[in-house]
Amino acid sequence: MYGLLRPLLFALPPETAHRLALAGLRTLGFWPGAVQTAAAPVELLAMRFPNRVGVAAGLDKDAVAVAGLARLGFGFVEVGTVTPQPQAGSPKPRLFRLTEDRALVNRMGFNSVGVDKVVANLSRSRTRIPVGVNIGKNQHTPLASAADDYRACLAAVYDVADYVTVNLSSPNTPGLRSLQAVPAASALIAELAALRDRLAIERGATAKPLFVKVAPDLASADLDATATAVLEAGANGLVAVNTTLMRPSTLASKNAAESGGLSGKPLFPLALDTIGRLRKRIGDSAALIAVGGIDCAADAQAMFNAGADLVQVYSALVYEGPGLVRRLTA
Ligand SMILES: Cc1cc2nc3c(=O)[nH]c(=O)nc-3n(C[C@H](O)[C@H](O)[C@H](O)COP(=O)(O)O)c2cc1C
Repeated sequence: MYGLLRPLLFALPPETAHRLALAGLRTLGFWPGAVQTAAAPVELLAMRFPNRVGVAAGLDKDAVAVAGLARLGFGFVEVGTVTPQPQAGSPKPRLFRLTEDRALVNRMGFNSVGVDKVVANLSRSRTRIPVGVNIGKNQHTPLASAADDYRACLAAVYDVADYVTVNLSSPNTPGLRSLQAVPAASALIAELAALRDRLAIERGATAKPLFVKVAPDLASADLDATATAVLEAGANGLVAVNTTLMRPSTLASKNAAESGGLSGKPLFPLALDTIGRLRKRIGDSAALIAVGGIDCAADAQAMFNAGADLVQVYSALVYEGPGLVRRLTA
């Protein structure tokens, strides 16, 4: 079925195709039932996942299609990145297919309807799979005040999220990645973890898990230091990795020259390496969600073998279509 649909979608500008696909998924969400996967459910940080394959942040930034994505058979969805105020993101075009490389380059720049609308969308959506909310800062917020934006988002989404991911690794918001450096990252996460703990006490419930999403472009020693620091500061896990600014020499598509973050197949070796490193570094003390170039069951298995608890996909859905979910969860 996707074999017929894909050429039609690929004839459209990527962002138009994405909008259409989201509209389709949104409609699918109103249908009863869901694809049943063969995978066994897993428990992680007191959350119950019907399977270990989820949707990566950026696909459903505004949380309009969570029920439809659940119906495709996904075990969880991470919506966002969400910003406190609505913002348009970067000028178009800002999303490019690298078809020969089964990859994408994007410089979306956190286009978001804003956190209030996302909370309203999530409050309305009825789904039994865990939903993570990935939070960020507005473009116009100075880096020195970034913590205010993250705090505002965390407080706003706390009741509608099963877990929250602090995005410190988008390459398309100037300076954002500098927040991964150790003094900045530990101070920010300590502040957010304290807020999370306060919210949990107010609600008389256990604290919801806090994840930090990291870039694949950090030097190994810096990644190790960041991982250790944010976990010590109160995060419960890491999402690795975001898109890369690197351009592997194997890339064949002319769109490789576009600026922005590269995702999809060429990112897989870097992502796998990062997951292996992180698991060795952090031991069994924290959760690891692997993302980056996963497009078949063998890739997902390699990530689990390297120490991932869960995996997420985005780019492969564009190239493989919804049948990917069943193959990854078989
Ligand atoms: C168009 C696009 C938009 C994205 N937006 C976000 C985002 O808002 N927040 C985020 O944390 N990651 C974002 N990502 C990164 C993905 O979540 C993921 O980390 C990356 O694409 C690697 O996974 P993949 O190779 O399976 O696509 C985006 C990726 C793409 C392709």
